[in-house]
Amino acid sequence: MISTLLSRLQHGPDGDPTPRLAYGADYNPEQWPREVWAEDVRLMREAGVNIVSVGIFSWARIQPAPDEWDFAWLDEIMDLLHAGGIGVDLATATASPPPWLTTAHPEILPVTASGETLWPGARQHWRPTSPVFREHALRLVRAMAERYADHPALVAWHVSNELGCHNVYDYSDDAARAFRVWLRARYSTLDALNHAWGTAFWSQRYSDWEQILPPRLAASHPNPTQQLDFKRYSSDALKEYLRAERDVLRELTPDVPVTTNFMVMGGTKGMNYADWAAEIDFVSNDHYVVPGPQDRDELSFSANLVSGISAGRPWFLMEHSTSAVNWQPINVAKRPGELARDSLVHVAHGADAVCFFQWRQSAAGAEKYHSAMVPHAGPDSELFRAVTALGSTLRTLAPVAGTEREPARVGIVFDWESWWASEQDSHPTSRLDYRQEALDWYSALLALGVRADVVTAQAELDRYDLLIAPVLHMVPTALAKDLTRYVEQGGHLVTTYFSGVVDENDHVWLGGYPGALRELLGIRVEEFGPLLDGDAVELDLDGAPTGSLWTDRITVTDLDVDVLGRYRSGAHTGLPAVTRRTVGRGSAAYVSTRLGADGLAGLLPRLLTPAGVTSELPDAARGDVELTVRRGSGARYLFLVNRTDAPVPLAGLDGELLIGRKDADGALVLPPRDVAVLRQPDRGRRGSNRCRNGG
Ligand code: GLA
Ligand code: GLA
Repeated sequence: MISTLLSRLQHGPDGDPTPRLAYGADYNPEQWPREVWAEDVRLMREAGVNIVSVGIFSWARIQPAPDEWDFAWLDEIMDLLHAGGIGVDLATATASPPPWLTTAHPEILPVTASGETLWPGARQHWRPTSPVFREHALRLVRAMAERYADHPALVAWHVSNELGCHNVYDYSDDAARAFRVWLRARYSTLDALNHAWGTAFWSQRYSDWEQILPPRLAASHPNPTQQLDFKRYSSDALKEYLRAERDVLRELTPDVPVTTNFMVMGGTKGMNYADWAAEIDFVSNDHYVVPGPQDRDELSFSANLVSGISAGRPWFLMEHSTSAVNWQPINVAKRPGELARDSLVHVAHGADAVCFFQWRQSAAGAEKYHSAMVPHAGPDSELFRAVTALGSTLRTLAPVAGTEREPARVGIVFDWESWWASEQDSHPTSRLDYRQEALDWYSALLALGVRADVVTAQAELDRYDLLIAPVLHMVPTALAKDLTRYVEQGGHLVTTYFSGVVDENDHVWLGGYPGALRELLGIRVEEFGPLLDGDAVELDLDGAPTGSLWTDRITVTDLDVDVLGRYRSGAHTGLPAVTRRTVGRGSAAYVSTRLGADGLAGLLPRLLTPAGVTSELPDAARGDVELTVRRGSGARYLFLVNRTDAPVPLAGLDGELLIGRKDADGALVLPPRDVAVLRQPDRGRRGSNRCRNGG
């Protein structure tokens, strides 16, 4: 679908037939007088922009009253953009309901767990399950699709905007009704629900479906399975809303691809995108950097996970920022080089589009201090020059468009169910951060220069030589069987503390931890040993790392288990901290404490070696450079990203340099924060030795 879309972007009025990556932004012309529009299109062309998302927050302008429609301005914009050779990713405009609708129908407003109404005045103030909202929204979607079905600028549909950004958890009466319908579909009978929710506990047994509510503000910890099911239901409710809009669009414009912008980034947890991806024609993502010690690792991790969600196929970077945002406590500007490097890391991980929020920086409204492609200073600015330079870089990278990600040999499993379940309340520790643990493993692999894919639990896991599944807390029987088979067939599995502990109902697997994975790992734990804030334990591993957050008192139960490291201090001094059981040609390893990225980088060589995984980078570049590979049409594209603020020499890699620099002697060198892309002929390499050896 993306390739069709990109091919529609090829033919601007200049008739340039070069296939190219998409480049653009959210475009909100309704914030500007008409005089600005023509300049916008002229500057877009100057910057190399070939796609913009229009109409995202235009509902009140398009439909000023229930039976009044104003498409004239949008017609004009669509025509102007088309005349400028710029394609339109047209929003359905439903993201922010207009005041007339919320005044007439306050019953569409979301309600928090403590019963507060989220009033209009910002955006996304609607209940995902409100039948009234849906009726009005779908009427608008239909009007948009009917109006623009045949407009030549239309290249894709953009459903709503960041579904669930502000309204994923709605506890209203509409939600209560929809939650019951969802629960009936899942459990069929009240007996099954009572069992799954463990309602024998605290006198919670239900005798009628009508008694069931969302987990509203309660006197103590609400039922954990009720909470978990509410998370599942809330993600599903938005997914169902996405489908409703999509179905209208497919009915009226079957040939126009439909997407919606995901938010795979730190801090967004409510939407199970692994489960949503199949609903749309191509995956889109928004990503914003949150400054911190691992900020660029996090960017790479998110982009990598989006590729995993998209099953390795190209995807759209629908939004990121040219520089500062407006919604963090302190909004720092990007440093020179970061605008391009951040963009190209997404491209390295499969983005065929680089888009920003937004085209022209707003003069008014809550986002007036959010950067854009055209800043307040105007086009005569460093920022706009960097934007234009990136447009030209992306044009050079046109051959990459449509290529897929070349699988790495290491996979990091990222599982929404375990994420949701492991971070619930009333647990051994409230400090556990599922995403951070996965990110730490990713950072450790980057530090060693080892390429890894971040994949969902539904991915084709067998293709990986080494599978790292941090805090794989929820392991239903089927997943336990899959992982056991994976190891028995020669795969190398690594998991950590608090894994394998519960089934899909959040019921503990009895007989000792790590429950569902106990036999596979050949260990047994009788009691968890979480650590207080600031407490640490020493380990006798290389580099003498310390563990924090968690410990386990491990008993080895299988003769084939090697103890890779022991606790050197704390309650478990002398006992195993890291174990590895050999199973035929495969193995199953367990890390019982939180080592952090540095500690994991020290441990990893002992886990990579048995799996036969080594860095593909020259020695001098390991750790300083991130390598990512895209592959297609007989070529491999090596993306080499300088993670540091110093130049890095890159001798020893051959290929044709698409972007990047060589020094006076012709050797490849990566300036600080820069990116090089090398094209090599594809000699039919395979990602995994295991695949090559037939398992
Ligand atoms: C989100 C939204 C945009 C804008 C940006 C600001 O990504 O989709 O409308 O608010 O955040 O960072
Ligand atoms: C109180 C309650 C018990 C139990 C404990 C948990 O003592 O009476 O039912 O919840 O707290 O610590």
